[in-house]
Amino acid sequence: MSKLFPHTLFAVLLTVSPTLFCADTIKIGIAGPFSGPYAAFGDQMWHGATQAAEDLNKQGGIDGKKIELVKADDACEPKQAVAVAHRLVDNDNVTAVIGHFCSSSTMPASVVYNDAKATMITPASTNPMITDRGLKTVFRTCGRDDQQGVVAANYIHDKLKAKQVAVIHDKDTYGKGLADAMKAELEKLGSKVVLYEGLTRGEKNFNALVTKVKDTKADAVYFGGLHTEAGPLLRQMREQDVKAPFISGDGIVSEDFVSSAGGPQIVNGVYMTFGADPRNAKNSEKVLNEFRSKGFEPEGYTLYTYAALQALAKAMEKTKSTDGAKLADWLHNNSVDTVMGKRSWDAKGDLKDADYVMYEWDDKGKYNQVKN
Ligand code: ALA
Repeated sequence: MSKLFPHTLFAVLLTVSPTLFCADTIKIGIAGPFSGPYAAFGDQMWHGATQAAEDLNKQGGIDGKKIELVKADDACEPKQAVAVAHRLVDNDNVTAVIGHFCSSSTMPASVVYNDAKATMITPASTNPMITDRGLKTVFRTCGRDDQQGVVAANYIHDKLKAKQVAVIHDKDTYGKGLADAMKAELEKLGSKVVLYEGLTRGEKNFNALVTKVKDTKADAVYFGGLHTEAGPLLRQMREQDVKAPFISGDGIVSEDFVSSAGGPQIVNGVYMTFGADPRNAKNSEKVLNEFRSKGFEPEGYTLYTYAALQALAKAMEKTKSTDGAKLADWLHNNSVDTVMGKRSWDAKGDLKDADYVMYEWDDKGKYNQVKN
C-alpha cells in the first residue's frame, strides 16, 4: 500500500496543476503587431484585450482569479512570432494566448501553442489553413478567407458587373490566399481575370504595376493584402487615372488605410469585405461607451479581441481549468455570449456562423456596410 502512495500523490498533482487554483492570477498572452507597419492592428487588439480584462476582473475575474495580460510583439514577422510564442509558454508561463494577427505569424506560432497544450484564439487570422491542420487547441473569432473571398467575388460579379478583373496580392499567406479564393470563385461565376500579380510588402512605388493594370482596361481591381500596400497602390492608381472600383478584404480595416492612401478623398468608394459590424450587435452599447469614453473608437478587430478573451474566460470558468484539451472540448460543445453576440465553434475551431458583408469607405474616411 505504502508503495502506491507516491504514485497516487503524483497523479493528483498532475491532475491539479492545470486548474485555476494554483496561481494568484491567470496569465494570458496577447500576441500581435505592436510595433512596425501593422501596429495599428496591434493597437486594436490591445485595446480590445485590456478593456475585456478590466471588465471581466471587475466582475470577479475567472473563478475569483484576476486576469493578467502579457503583451507579446511579433511585428507580423513569422520568425519573431515563433520566438514570442516560445517566450510566452516557456518563460512567461501564460495559460493561453489571444493572437496572433497576421496569418503568416499565427500559422507557425499556433504549432508552438498546440505542442504546449495552450489554447490559442486568433481574433483576426483568416487563412483557411489556420484551422484546417487539425490543431486541437486552435480557435478563431473571425471568419475564413474562403468565405470572405466568395462574398467579394459575388459582389464584383453581380453588383459591380465587372467582366474583366485585375487581381493583385502581396505574396503573403493572408493576401495571396484571399486573392486566390476570390479569383477561384470569380472565374466560376464567369468574370475574366485579366491580370494576376504579386507585389512586395514594404515597397511604396507601384507605378509600373499600375501601368500594367491600366493597359488591361480592367473594370475592377481586387487587392489581397494589408493597408500599408493597399493605400499607396490605390493612390497611384488614381494618380494614373485608373478609375476602376478597388475592392479588398479585412486587411484594410483600419483608419490607417485612409492615411496610407493619402486621405478620405482617395479611399472614398473603396469596397471591403469584413464581418457584420460588431458595433451594431445587441448588448454591445455598454462596452462601446467604455471605449469611447476613453477616446478610442473600437473599429476593426477591437471587439473580436474582446470577444476572444470573453470566450476563453468563460471556458476556463466552466471547466475550472486552463488545460488546452479541456478548454477545446468545452469550446467545441458550447456557445458563449460575447460582445459580438452568441458565438460557437465547429470541430475545427472555426465559427459556426460566418457573417461577411460588403462595406464601402466614404469621403470622411469611415467604412459603412453597403445596403443591398
Ligand atoms: N485577416 C488577416 C490575416 O489573416 C489580418 O492575416
